[in-house]
Amino acid sequence: MTISRLTVDKLGVKLYDRVSAVIAELVANSYDADATSVEIHAPMDQLLATKEKGEIVDQGLVIEVNDNGTGMTPAEVQNFYLVVGAERRTDTRRGDVSKIFTRKVMGRKGVGKLAPFGVCKRIEVLSAGGPKVKGFDERGKPATGHLTAHLILDRSKILSDTDKAYAPVPGPRDGTVSAASGTRLKLTIFDHRRVPTIEEFERQLSQRFGVASKDWQIVLVDSTKSSTEADSQRSVGTFQVETMEETMVRFVHD
Ligand SMILES: Nc1ncnc2c1ncn2[C@@H]1O[C@H](COP(=O)(O)OP(=O)(O)OP(=O)(O)O)[C@@H](O)[C@H]1O
Ligand SMILES: [Mg+2]
Repeated sequence: MTISRLTVDKLGVKLYDRVSAVIAELVANSYDADATSVEIHAPMDQLLATKEKGEIVDQGLVIEVNDNGTGMTPAEVQNFYLVVGAERRTDTRRGDVSKIFTRKVMGRKGVGKLAPFGVCKRIEVLSAGGPKVKGFDERGKPATGHLTAHLILDRSKILSDTDKAYAPVPGPRDGTVSAASGTRLKLTIFDHRRVPTIEEFERQLSQRFGVASKDWQIVLVDSTKSSTEADSQRSVGTFQVETMEETMVRFVHD
């Protein structure tokens, strides 16, 4: 996969500069893949790279998006993910409704996966999908599981001005099998961007994805906090139980 700057413009690839908009594209993909849960781990309210004397200095931070959807096998990554501008809804292998929950798919243009390149230089993709097959797990032991794709996408190579095909670098888990299906994306090496506060992040995502349900939840996890700290985690679009309990206690005592 290689796409020139010209193609980027022609296809209307949106290289958003807002972190929440970028993550929303990835969450939309998880929704289309019939995930019931998407977890976003991010350093909330942090600058991902500083600017020092005009130089962008990456802070070594990581944003991860994990879903428990149907995932992709290495062949599906090749056919669907590493192709830019292929319309999903007119592709009979994928269609316009999802397989398990018959969700009306959000994917339109086949470019959303590139959105992170509006904020970072590197995307690591780990995805396990397809039927369970016999193979080897990540430690090289014989196992049965979903065929796993592992690859690293490099912005400067993909968004280059040449037409030479770009083969992403495979990661160590490529071709192994995994017990669970799903997709994990890891974004690193950032531009001068800030992660919103967890409140703001929740607001942005609930605007696009609405309320949580039993088949669909988005969880935001603040990677700068330990799990016992207040507000280290939020479920998007759910009523805040803590607030309710507080209110009720006050009501009883009043
Ligand atoms: N998290 C995921 N799980 C499983 N498959 C995925 C995931 N993300 C992407 N894909 C596959 O890769 C394809 C390309 O994704 P991409 O976001 O570029 O395009 P799209 O969702 O079809 O359209 P749009 O440009 O509107 O987002 C998807 O159609 C889907 O087949
Ligand atoms: Mg998409």
